[in-house]
Amino acid sequence: MIYGISQLGYLVASALFIFALHWMNTPATARKGVYAGVAGTMIAVVVTWAEPAVIHHAWIVVAIAAGFVVGVPLSKVPLTAVPQRTALSHAFGGAAAGLVGTAEYYLRLSEGGEYLTPFRMIALIAEIILGYLTLTGSLMAAGKLQEVKWVPQRPVTYPLQNISNLALFGLALALAGAITRSPTAAWAPFVFGGIIALALLFGVLLIIPIGGADMPTVIAILNSYAGLSAVAMGFVLDNKLLITAGALDGSSGLILAIIMCNAMNRSFTNVLFGAFGQVKASRAAGEEKVYKSETVEGAAQVLEQANLVVIVPGYGMAVAQAQHKVRELYDQLKKRGITVKFAIHPVAGRMPGHMNVLLAEADIPYTDLVEMDEINPDMPQVDVALVVGANDVVNPAARTEKASPIYGMPIIDADKARSVFAIKRSKNPGFAGIDNELYFGDRTWMLFGDAKNVIGELVKQLAGGSGMH
Ligand code: TAP
Repeated sequence: MIYGISQLGYLVASALFIFALHWMNTPATARKGVYAGVAGTMIAVVVTWAEPAVIHHAWIVVAIAAGFVVGVPLSKVPLTAVPQRTALSHAFGGAAAGLVGTAEYYLRLSEGGEYLTPFRMIALIAEIILGYLTLTGSLMAAGKLQEVKWVPQRPVTYPLQNISNLALFGLALALAGAITRSPTAAWAPFVFGGIIALALLFGVLLIIPIGGADMPTVIAILNSYAGLSAVAMGFVLDNKLLITAGALDGSSGLILAIIMCNAMNRSFTNVLFGAFGQVKASRAAGEEKVYKSETVEGAAQVLEQANLVVIVPGYGMAVAQAQHKVRELYDQLKKRGITVKFAIHPVAGRMPGHMNVLLAEADIPYTDLVEMDEINPDMPQVDVALVVGANDVVNPAARTEKASPIYGMPIIDADKARSVFAIKRSKNPGFAGIDNELYFGDRTWMLFGDAKNVIGELVKQLAGGSGMH
């Protein structure tokens, strides 16, 4: 009877997880998706707690209390810190899987070891290797993104790096083979500990050659490792919910990483071993190209005359936290009957959906957010493209320059608009570290300054200045 109820609970929780992912597909239903995920998790916890095998209830209460102590502050981090917050969550997921696997092995060993069949041993080893490497890998990733002092931000590379990493992984696999054959041998518990140590080390070594700005993609990959380790844990504990939830987690992490890699025109290997974003040798002294600057007064006048304005937000809007000012500008332009759309590049900013979330925070209707593929055919009809702290995602070199690191990456065709205003603070490049021809274009004018200040000034001009010119 209890078994039947718990299986039904697991089924309902699995269904809720699937709906949660489905509802996350669009902003209109995303909130519902979050509630479904929370409900599924709660059902899973309650049903598991009610299992007759659980006898030490106080421990469960302590664990739930600890979850609150850590979880509540984590829910309050600013949006720009969400990638590292997500990495921390994966670290906890990896730690949980690793610890459960460790406890399970030593417990079953103390019972004589009959439970440790070759199949369960393979699942256990997969669980601990993936779990522990996710733990240290995610902590490193979070440290890099948070710019923690003792974690190097730049890719750390050394000779024979990939080969030595592979050798280490090979050693872990060899130990895994030995312990799977003789899980109860006198040396087995030590070998098990050795595999844990190698997995912890492997997590660190895997992340150090990767640049801080590549971390969002790596975090999605670590997400899938955490999911796979939960699948393995499901096989060890014979728990179908863990297998389903882990598979959903693992595959969605992988799909996200693939989408991000495609949107950046980078391969998995390039992200994992490419050491992208390393300091490039400064360019040989050639002819200095010149920018044309414009004043906010001038820009406001041009904006007022436009029929169609497309705002292209990028990482700089997030840095400046300019989304609320952008909303004010949007209101000012709409008031004049001007059509305003936002062009959303899939990897603008530093995390998937970064721009969507920021603009939603400022209550900009998501019906005015247009995906790259949809807006590009209309770009030649756009009167003003207003680039707000975006750089790589509007760099025409991606279409034409074969030698460019972003060659082949789909971009928003801001350069095709009738005029372009670009807001950034300096002449520094963006994430990919390369120049952007758009800024030197005939129809481009720079508005140098912090995005929040510049947009604020534009709003002031439009609010106070109507009728002045
Ligand atoms: P970036 O190419 O990084 O350019 C951002 C620009 O914003 C910089 O040129 C910077 O110029 C400017 N900026 C910074 N702070 C500013 C401020 N306070 N006010 C005004 N401007 C400011 O950004 P993007 O166009 O959004 O492209 C994203 C890049 O990140 C792509 O190369 C993408 O592949 C990569 N990436 C994205 C993701 C995801 S999932 N979104 C993950 C990993 C990597 P100044 O310094 O001169 O101000």
